[in-house]
Amino acid sequence: MSWEPERYLQFANERLRPAQDLLARIPLPAPARVVDLGCGPGNVTKLIAGRWPQAQITGVDSSEAMLERARLALPEARFELADIGQWTPADAPDLIFSNAALHWLPEHPALFPRLLGQLAPGGVLAVQMPGNFDAPSHRLIRDLAATPAWAEALAGARMGAVLGMPDYYRILAPHCRRLSLWESIYWQSLSGPAPVLDWLRGTTLLPYLALLTAEAQAQFLAELAPQLAEAYPSDAAGTTLFPFRRIFLVACR
Ligand SMILES: C[S@@+](CC[C@H](N)C(=O)[O-])C[C@H]1O[C@@H](n2cnc3c(N)ncnc32)[C@H](O)[C@@H]1O
Repeated sequence: MSWEPERYLQFANERLRPAQDLLARIPLPAPARVVDLGCGPGNVTKLIAGRWPQAQITGVDSSEAMLERARLALPEARFELADIGQWTPADAPDLIFSNAALHWLPEHPALFPRLLGQLAPGGVLAVQMPGNFDAPSHRLIRDLAATPAWAEALAGARMGAVLGMPDYYRILAPHCRRLSLWESIYWQSLSGPAPVLDWLRGTTLLPYLALLTAEAQAQFLAELAPQLAEAYPSDAAGTTLFPFRRIFLVACR
């Protein structure tokens, strides 16, 4: 599946807001080493650098296209091409930050304690992930992909997943000095003729489109578009409300 930084950044402001909210809740005055896992195009990494200008910052991502953008956004940081599932830090970080990335990885009951264990003593794991996999936007994609016309071609597509909040509490609390869990719904007002489809094309739809030819992609999107437009109508001013639930955790080792 290939990420397209330009398409992802079409909603840069909306995508940045939860990262700002997460950053505001991290109780570290001056972390020396910070890692941004799944750093993408680097605009969140830049926010992190703005908060702690003295920190040595490393961005990790498995998309070279995203890392290319990140290096432009923040030339002074280090960026590594790696799969988070296999990645281990050379030196223990004081902060592992991850915005909108870890839902793409499986096995959270093993992954989260492993990340926590990689921190320096007193370090913090701060994570934001989408928590809206049952929203109409995501259900419509899964339902369409499961119809006879698409089921065979799209059998291997996965849109990522998160556990319930009590699961993260159970997994992390035994290893933490302090654990903060919360969720927020962002009532995003988008503009344009098909803004929810455009949003999803930047992220959630990528694993589906990756399995299709260009022609089949166009057909899938043409079938999905009217369903999304019905679920998320635009008002007379052309604004579409797209509520988006996100979950947050800040775990202090
Ligand atoms: C939705 S983007 C988020 C980017 C950035 N954190 C932000 O908030 O703007 C998700 C990023 O996670 C990266 N990613 C997904 N799975 C990954 C994995 N297993 N290892 C490393 N990076 C991964 C993708 O390449 C992508 O750049």
